[in-house]
Amino acid sequence: MKRNRNFSLLLFVVFLGILFITFSVISVEARKYRVKKSKPHKHQNDRNGNGNRNSPGPAPAPLPHYPTRSTIFDVMSFGAKGDGVSDDSKAIIAAWKAACKVSGATIEIPSNFQFFLKPITLQGPCMPNLVLQIDGTLLAPPNVGSWPKSSLFQWINFKWVQNFTIKGTGIVDGQGYSWWKYSSIYFLQKNSKHIPDMKPTALRFYSSYDVTVRDIKITNSPQCHLKFDSSRGIKVDNITISSPESSPNTDGIHLQNTQDVEIHNSNFGCGDDCVSIQTGCSNVHIHHINCGPGHGISIGGLGKDKTVACVSNIIVEDISIQNSLTGVRIKTWQGGIGSVKNVSFLNVQVSDVKIPIMIDQFYCDKKFCKNQTGAVGIRGVKYDRIIGTYSVQPIHLVCSNEIPCTDVDLIDIQLKPSPGYRGFHQALCWNTYGKSQAPLLPSSIDYCLGKNGDPVKRIEKSHEHVC
Ligand SMILES: *[C@@H]1O[C@H](CO)[C@@H](O)[C@H](O)[C@H]1NC(C)=O
Ligand SMILES: *[C@@H]1O[C@H](CO)[C@@H](O)[C@H](O)[C@H]1NC(C)=O
Ligand SMILES: *[C@@H]1O[C@H](CO)[C@@H](O)[C@H](O)[C@H]1NC(C)=O
Ligand SMILES: *[C@@H]1O[C@H](CO)[C@@H](O)[C@H](O)[C@H]1NC(C)=O
Repeated sequence: MKRNRNFSLLLFVVFLGILFITFSVISVEARKYRVKKSKPHKHQNDRNGNGNRNSPGPAPAPLPHYPTRSTIFDVMSFGAKGDGVSDDSKAIIAAWKAACKVSGATIEIPSNFQFFLKPITLQGPCMPNLVLQIDGTLLAPPNVGSWPKSSLFQWINFKWVQNFTIKGTGIVDGQGYSWWKYSSIYFLQKNSKHIPDMKPTALRFYSSYDVTVRDIKITNSPQCHLKFDSSRGIKVDNITISSPESSPNTDGIHLQNTQDVEIHNSNFGCGDDCVSIQTGCSNVHIHHINCGPGHGISIGGLGKDKTVACVSNIIVEDISIQNSLTGVRIKTWQGGIGSVKNVSFLNVQVSDVKIPIMIDQFYCDKKFCKNQTGAVGIRGVKYDRIIGTYSVQPIHLVCSNEIPCTDVDLIDIQLKPSPGYRGFHQALCWNTYGKSQAPLLPSSIDYCLGKNGDPVKRIEKSHEHVC
């Protein structure tokens, strides 16, 4: 009997033990739950701007689900005001820094707010699949005087980012009006000492990889709207870039030293090139875009001040260009070295373009440039199905005196004068070699190209091997 009683006592002790452990676990869980669920509530209150943090009030009702760790970083939760006047730069940088540490995070710039930002740098490397969701409006400093003198290169600088996406229905507004008027001749004469030499680009990517920019609108940049510099693996899809036709030097997209690029389904209308391709670019595919007004699609100017320029493997296809100075253009300065090779312009619709097809190896941005020997060599440029209307000259292919352009092919070119214009120039080819294939309109295109150049001499002179 004694053994039996001892056994009952043991059972009772074990039972008490289990009871104690269970209770402890439950209370710890309950504490955890309270801590976690309170966070998203604070978040929401902050975002709506009516969080009454000082009133004690009743405890919030429990959430139906156990909340998981949030990957949305709303700039409002980081102190952004969104009133278009307060400086929200710090809030955006803080949201970026927090999101950067989390895989698959989204930084949210909410709609119906305007965020005034000074020049900022958003720096990586970050965890993969970071998204900047721009649904509201970003505003740059509106006056030249309010730009910090040390940050004239760009407004928003993305540096060392990888596997990163910008998207959203929002607007990036460079508010460039005060910069544009600084370029007028009147201003140059009256106030030349106040003009900064450099004008900011709106969005710039530097040394970045696997970047997508989609859906957003970029407008009124002081100078270039979207620049990729020393980057690789770039996709631009469904964006709109616009600034007034009279705004000087406002390129749409500027590519420099950047490879593996696709730009498509987008609309460009600004004061300069829709897309400008500079030295160090290769494997660039531009298609299904609408361009104009402005200066069309340009490769160059290359080789300024006897510099090296290398551009290769460019395809521009299925695009339309209207109301522009030039259509598809390659421009190089006299005296440069290097090469432009393997470029195709396919299925380009032009409408009221002054000069639809242009190679200019005497490019000069002022009244007079000194003659130089040598040039960036141009080889392997195909124009196939360039159709529409021009208002000054259908074709202007002017290559360097020492280094002819070779393998320049003109296939199915049908260019008619724009209605209402008079006094057109004939197709012009200078030191340009290649083949042409009907249909060709105007018929002067047929005997424009030379039939053979001297490729060996050409390559030696252009120092093409530097590329
Ligand atoms: C990031 O990497 C993932 C996984 O490899 C890929 O699916 C996604 O397209 C990448 N995003 C960008 C912007 O390159
Ligand atoms: C293109 O972007 C706009 C927002 O600017 C969006 O409403 C639309 O759905 C996008 N289209 C596609 C095909 O993604
Ligand atoms: C020319 O460029 C295209 C597009 O980038 C590429 O697919 C092709 O291989 C290149 N051709 C040569 C001969 O390099
Ligand atoms: C430069 O070269 C062009 C063409 O060879 C010639 O017509 C022009 O007079 C030259 N200009 C100068 C300043 O030497």
